[in-house]
Amino acid sequence: MKTFISHSVNETEEFAAQLAQELRPGDVLAFRGGMGAGKTAFTRGLAQGLGVTGEVSSPTFALVHEHNGKIPLFHFDLYRITSLEDLYSTGYFDYLDRSGILAVEWSEQIEGILDENTILITLETLGETSRKITVEGDERF
Ligand SMILES: Nc1ncnc2c1ncn2[C@@H]1O[C@H](COP(=O)(O)OP(=O)(O)O)[C@@H](O)[C@H]1O
Ligand SMILES: [Mg+2]
Repeated sequence: MKTFISHSVNETEEFAAQLAQELRPGDVLAFRGGMGAGKTAFTRGLAQGLGVTGEVSSPTFALVHEHNGKIPLFHFDLYRITSLEDLYSTGYFDYLDRSGILAVEWSEQIEGILDENTILITLETLGETSRKITVEGDERF
């Protein structure tokens, strides 16, 4: 388990960019933490670390955004997903087989179906600009 206290968006992005260096194709990162916790900011850092050039924004309506980097990054927002059927329709299970990295916002929605080697990233709001970030669930961290 790894914990980090971030004091700014920049620090969150940098922490994520460093973590990205340790990721491998097929990794699933499941975020926990409510609105404004920094899930999208963290994913932006991952993208930087993976050499993605395009902009990263919350896939609130599209449900998934694809980014090409040194490893592809598939960015999900499952806020509106309430059934397994919904999840299937996003293509989630197909993405699992595409040798990319999945970054999953609102993974609370699919807690029961997360694989046991999912990397869990919990973002806790401590103050206006401070966040406690916990990374767990894999022997690398
Ligand atoms: N240390 C921090 N890390 C990440 N975001 C922060 C931090 N401090 C303040 N923020 C603010 O919190 C918000 C996080 O937004 P976002 O990443 O979209 O959250 P989420 O995707 O979890 O809803 C942004 O407005 C950002 O400026
Ligand atoms: Mg978001």
